[in-house]
Amino acid sequence: MSALAAIVLCAGKGTRMKSERVKVLHPLLGRPLCYYPLRAAFSVGAQPVVAVVGHQAEQVQAELRPAFEGRPLSFVVQAAQNGTADAVLAAKAALAAHRGSVLILYGDVPLLRSETLRTLVTAFESAKAPLALLTTVAPEPSGYGRVVRQGERIQRIVEDKDATEKERQLTECNAGVYVVDAAFLWAELTKLRPNNAQGELYLTDLVAAAAALGDVPSVAVAFEECAGVNDRAELARLARTMQQRIQSAHMRAGVTLQDPSSTWIDDDVELSADVTLGPQVSLHGRTRIEPGAVVEQGCILSETRVGRDAVIQAYSVLEGAEVGALNRVGPFARLRPGTVLSENVHVGNFVEVKNTRMGSGAKANHLSYLGDAEIGAKVNVGAGTITCNYDGAHKHKTILEDGVFVGSDTQFVAPVRVGARSVVGAGSTVTKDVPEGSLVLSRVPQVVKAGWADRKTRPKKP
Ligand code: UD1
Ligand code: CA
Repeated sequence: MSALAAIVLCAGKGTRMKSERVKVLHPLLGRPLCYYPLRAAFSVGAQPVVAVVGHQAEQVQAELRPAFEGRPLSFVVQAAQNGTADAVLAAKAALAAHRGSVLILYGDVPLLRSETLRTLVTAFESAKAPLALLTTVAPEPSGYGRVVRQGERIQRIVEDKDATEKERQLTECNAGVYVVDAAFLWAELTKLRPNNAQGELYLTDLVAAAAALGDVPSVAVAFEECAGVNDRAELARLARTMQQRIQSAHMRAGVTLQDPSSTWIDDDVELSADVTLGPQVSLHGRTRIEPGAVVEQGCILSETRVGRDAVIQAYSVLEGAEVGALNRVGPFARLRPGTVLSENVHVGNFVEVKNTRMGSGAKANHLSYLGDAEIGAKVNVGAGTITCNYDGAHKHKTILEDGVFVGSDTQFVAPVRVGARSVVGAGSTVTKDVPEGSLVLSRVPQVVKAGWADRKTRPKKP
């Protein structure tokens, strides 16, 4: 195989999205739309890969750089969006040293598989033509460039806006994926003229130039794999298709999905074998779930790690949390960033935990807020316990050492530390540190007036 570089076009605004955000940054299963064609280019070994940016160039680079750290990815700016050929020209200087061929992809075509790109590269190499392209039969071709053939031979691509009534009837479309000989590419691009309905430099005009030299090889691909995103309806449809792909891969790898149609799993999520997901579960970002764990109906997890055999009960919301093995969380629990639960921890209904560690066997089963706390092993946090971590200006820490027992309806006014094995009486407000092994009580002593209620004359009901 000769050297292969790639260019991915990401400079357009995406007017049909009707958005302040540039089209290629619209999220698709946890990644920006243009992440996918870039990943596809790397997956066939293209090197370097040049992303052409324009609209919101800074943001596009900022979102893509970390995703491809350590990869040979560079960015070039297309100053004005004068069409797809002009965009490719913007990458010329960046590829000045490259000899061989160039894979060209559009940033709004996210579902391409690497096998398909490999087939196209092979077709290009075996045909020895200056250009090869992917084509597809679109169920609704409107908007796509049409492939004009004479007999079997490709003659040219005509854009929808430039097509005659007869050409619009053609259903074979340009998928927008090409492999082009580099020398041919740079020589021909400079000859193109914007003589078309949109007054733009069309990359698709290269096809006619290649056809003038001989047969142009094409590879047919299913429409669902090369569909582009031009508006939000297409974005939603492609998200569904991509979701089905992601789910199939997980199910083949041993994950149980009780209701695939209501489940959403982002691209970057990792699930082990024997994980079970209930209906209406959404998993986002870099979420990782280990073997045997169960995530019940209606849970939303993002950037969260769930350990072996843990159960996340229904309708819990977890973000940036680490949940250890054998934990039981929920139903209706909320774990916020910085929550680290060791093994066998229980966090029950209506408990909110933030920036807090809980040691193994610790429990907070009902109605609590635990923020900026360190909770030792086997601590029992009673119902209605609140860490008062915020004084209006700063956050302070609550430390409950191993084996502490906290009675219900307790407040900890941080910063405060309760020594190991101590017992906090129900209804206490703990404002000062407590040495280990103590009993701490701060509630008002109970007053009983015997017979008081019976003696009191109360108005009779009419
Ligand atoms: C393009 C093709 C069409 C094909 C379709 C496949 C052309 C002229 N037409 O049409 O034949 O059927 O894709 O999806 O190529 N871009 C830039 N700079 C520009 C213009 C566009 O970087 O000046 C980028 C856009 O950000 C986008 C991609 O190129 O990612 C395609 O542009 P778009 O305007 O969506 O082209 P289509 O009209 O879909
Ligand atoms: Ca498009």
